[in-house]
Amino acid sequence: MTVRSLGYVVVEATDVGAWRKFAVDTLGLMEGPAGADGSVRFRIDERPFRIAVVPGKQDRFVSCGWEFRDAAELAAAIATLKAAGVAVRAGSDGEAANRAVRQIAYCADPAGNQLELFHGRTYDYAPFASPRGLSGFVAGELGMGHAVLPALQLAEVRAFYQRLGFADTDEMWLQMSPNPADPKLGIHFMHAACRRHHSLALVGMPAPSGAVHIMLEAKSLDDVGYALDRCIASGAHISSSLGKHSNDYMVSFYVRTPGGFDLEFGCDGITPDWETWVPTQSVIGDLWGHRWSPPPA
Ligand SMILES: [Fe+2]
Repeated sequence: MTVRSLGYVVVEATDVGAWRKFAVDTLGLMEGPAGADGSVRFRIDERPFRIAVVPGKQDRFVSCGWEFRDAAELAAAIATLKAAGVAVRAGSDGEAANRAVRQIAYCADPAGNQLELFHGRTYDYAPFASPRGLSGFVAGELGMGHAVLPALQLAEVRAFYQRLGFADTDEMWLQMSPNPADPKLGIHFMHAACRRHHSLALVGMPAPSGAVHIMLEAKSLDDVGYALDRCIASGAHISSSLGKHSNDYMVSFYVRTPGGFDLEFGCDGITPDWETWVPTQSVIGDLWGHRWSPPPA
């Protein structure tokens, strides 16, 4: 009864064409077959899609799709959530087919972040080929990457994800203001049953777009550098310069997506051995770089 990895994310967009331009032309993702719901879908590996962009009235992050190994593990997770008083809706066969999975269920965490719980992805075995010559992404069994979600009620939301089998990787407590008496910003990094440092992080701050950021991990530093050049050339807002995080050693930059949240594009994240891993607390977020600049109002 444990989430294996982040399977996919769902985004709503007023202009799916802007997302196609951003994802395919700028980042170098591969466009896959459209969904029955009219979604434009992007691939980074052999999975049917990792980002689904659904046409709608808003530009926002909709949900994370969390993958379970099989029907028994999914059923156990649903039972655990229901026993804790969480409302879980079973998806229809049509909803499952639309996400290219065998079975799907829906719920929300205590902060209102939407989850899709599933097992049994459909494979067509089409190899990933980047239209921008990217060497590829570190995904597969490590999942698509990670999602960083708003969670003002940090402890309560962490407890929710622990029920789904997530475990603590580490924490950051960052002093964001010059006054040391001000409360620190807390970030909880949590791992699923795969060796990605974190598939989920919870931040004690609001995020009007629905997500703080999502992360994709490319196979090489050159992939990251070329993507950064393409993002700058496209006029996309670079939310953070290149830098290296203190806890997962990811070398990355952040670019604002058409969804109003950031996408971290990185490489070289560590893959801890959870048998010997000991959670820690970091007081800085970066070893170097990652200079932040808010988007123009
Ligand atoms: Fe990140």
